[in-house]
Amino acid sequence: MRPNNFNFKNGILNVEDMSLNDVLANFSTPFYIYTKASILESCEAYLSNIESTDLVCFAVKANSNLQLLKILAEAGLGFDVVSGGELSRVIKIGADPKKIVFSGVGKTKAELAKAAELEIFSINVESSYELENIIELEKNPRVSFRINPDMSGDTHPYIETGKADCKFGISEVEAISLAKKYSPEEINLVGITAHIGSQITNTDLFLELLEKLKSLASQFEAYGHSIDHLDVGGGLAIDYKMENNFNPSELVKELKANVGNYSLLLEPGRSMVAQAGALITKVIGEKENGDRKFLIVDAAMNDLMRPSLYNARHEIENIIENTEDKESFTVVGPVCETADSFGDEFKLSAKADDHLIIYSSGAYGSSMGSNYNSRLRPAEILIDAGSYKIIRREESFDDLIKLEEI
Ligand SMILES: Cc1ncc(COP(=O)(O)O)c(C=O)c1O
Repeated sequence: MRPNNFNFKNGILNVEDMSLNDVLANFSTPFYIYTKASILESCEAYLSNIESTDLVCFAVKANSNLQLLKILAEAGLGFDVVSGGELSRVIKIGADPKKIVFSGVGKTKAELAKAAELEIFSINVESSYELENIIELEKNPRVSFRINPDMSGDTHPYIETGKADCKFGISEVEAISLAKKYSPEEINLVGITAHIGSQITNTDLFLELLEKLKSLASQFEAYGHSIDHLDVGGGLAIDYKMENNFNPSELVKELKANVGNYSLLLEPGRSMVAQAGALITKVIGEKENGDRKFLIVDAAMNDLMRPSLYNARHEIENIIENTEDKESFTVVGPVCETADSFGDEFKLSAKADDHLIIYSSGAYGSSMGSNYNSRLRPAEILIDAGSYKIIRREESFDDLIKLEEI
């Protein structure tokens, strides 16, 4: 039998001295749990290999909890935001506007005006109309062109963003013609950025991208623009099987060695927080239908959407092992969709009321959550130095309906 301590595989989520009994006793499931130590470790892996002129901007979409953002800001990170809401979140926790980049394929005029007013580090422009909307503001904010690099990340189609026919970015040809069309007096073009996609396992792609950005930079400079930074986006994979992890340090070192005289900017999301978080759920019951043995748990696709949306596989284990033989289960939630499944063939020895842990849920977990089926959003709990604190309380029914009128 395993002790009632978190002692996760390979030390990835390492809170060894933290007894879970307290947490399990005090919170109704499902809930998210994060470890500060693990988040700080990822920060260190990125930050220890850059200089003060470089910037690591956490992709807020991966996890937008205010307390986690605060930890990241205090560790020295900037932020990559993709909406006015995310921009407001990072301003709320006191982030330095000079460390914020604003990406996104459909920024509204109001969002652009807000970013310009805040004088953020860079508005990452994704189309010619967006550039025109920025010029109309007459504020001359710092802008970068987000290039569509026409590269494949060899990842799930829903998280490929760098292929020619994806909606993101501006083609290289169009970017060059915009750099030619608008003089440095008309636009303050200071950077070039691109994001190949997410969950990228081939790190050579980032170096290939960097070469593209460098070549474009010299072409933009030939039209008089002063490019100060190159931004290779985010996308570094994590190992959802939790056997090996990709080490950001090596990648950052190689990028630094090749970036030339430009500042380097990175926008990691998943690789910063995914392994620092888990979703804790309780077994409601078991049943058999056809050839399948189902374990029905109280977490569902509205809490963690990745398995339903991308067919993603998160490791699942009993928190407290029991001595009974393991069986093969399909683990599903209560939501009325067949897609509400965490996957087949999980080897578990669980029964009603047992707690399970769904690993690697710190990124694109709570931030993609919803209230589908009028389910209440779960609590989020942070483990820090052997104690825990609530960083988002669980939703109540009153929270759920407070904006509605009868
Ligand atoms: C522009 C941009 N930057 C950064 C990221 C973060 O990617 P990841 O979480 O894979 O590191 C994304 C994710 O979609 C993105 O679209």
